[in-house]
Amino acid sequence: MGGTAVSDSTTTNNSELADASRERPRGDAAEPVLRVHGVRKTFEAELAPVRALRGVDLDVASGEFLAIMGPSGCGKSTLLNLIAGLDLADDGTITIAGEVITDEDEDGLARMRRRHIGIVFQFFNLLEGMTAIENVVLPAMIAGTRRKAAEARARDLLDLLGVGDKRDELPSVLSGGQRQRLAIARALANEPTLLLADEPTGALDTEGGQEVLELFRRLHGDGQTIVMVTHSHDVAAGADRIIQFRDGRVVEGDPVGNGRP
Ligand SMILES: Nc1ncnc2c1ncn2[C@@H]1O[C@H](COP(=O)(O)OP(=O)(O)OP(=O)(O)O)[C@@H](O)[C@H]1O
Ligand SMILES: [Mg+2]
Repeated sequence: MGGTAVSDSTTTNNSELADASRERPRGDAAEPVLRVHGVRKTFEAELAPVRALRGVDLDVASGEFLAIMGPSGCGKSTLLNLIAGLDLADDGTITIAGEVITDEDEDGLARMRRRHIGIVFQFFNLLEGMTAIENVVLPAMIAGTRRKAAEARARDLLDLLGVGDKRDELPSVLSGGQRQRLAIARALANEPTLLLADEPTGALDTEGGQEVLELFRRLHGDGQTIVMVTHSHDVAAGADRIIQFRDGRVVEGDPVGNGRP
């Protein structure tokens, strides 16, 4: 466990991905790779403040695949955004691979994001003016990877995710499922410690959703840690562990799982 690279016997050239993932330190295997403790977040709103997170505790072990479910507005996306360092918690701590990210300033969070986080959204968030491969190359180059290496990894990822033949197309000509697989390739460009996904199958039909879930299962099989928000019981059933959120708290399921010390 601990590698993030996808492996698939039908593809030939993924040794580079595997090598790259072995080089990355993953911290102490016994420590949860993600630890959320007492996290609170309130949004100021016109009528009354919205207490989106009201004390969330959650541990995720390295290599685990966790699904988060719960009704609309219960705080799922807020939690993912805080873990991704896209927003700041009011209270509590979030630790990723041993680093307390809730102590970081904006620059520190941006660095943390590049090192540790890959994120997949419901509506893909692709750069529509760039080809498929450039969408994957760009985040790696922003993180400091040289173009040649970034392109090699992007080509491998697109092949592994089954959109290698769409490499030079613009996202607009791809199907929903293909766009989401491209978005996943982009999220994997920097070999993230954590793959976060906010309703990655929400905009897809059943078949497209199953494709994406199968892909996550494969990534998980290769050691990728995944935290996925979903409304679909079928999709959640593909994860190792399901927790239920309500009113800004974990109300059901084991918040510690096999990350228990
Ligand atoms: N930037 C914001 N400003 C004000 N209120 C916000 C903001 N972001 C989220 N909220 C509120 O916080 C609560 C939690 O929102 P969040 O997006 O986390 O819910 P969710 O569980 O992801 O819902 P859904 O399943 O519909 O995506 C909601 O009441 C929402 O209106
Ligand atoms: Mg949401």
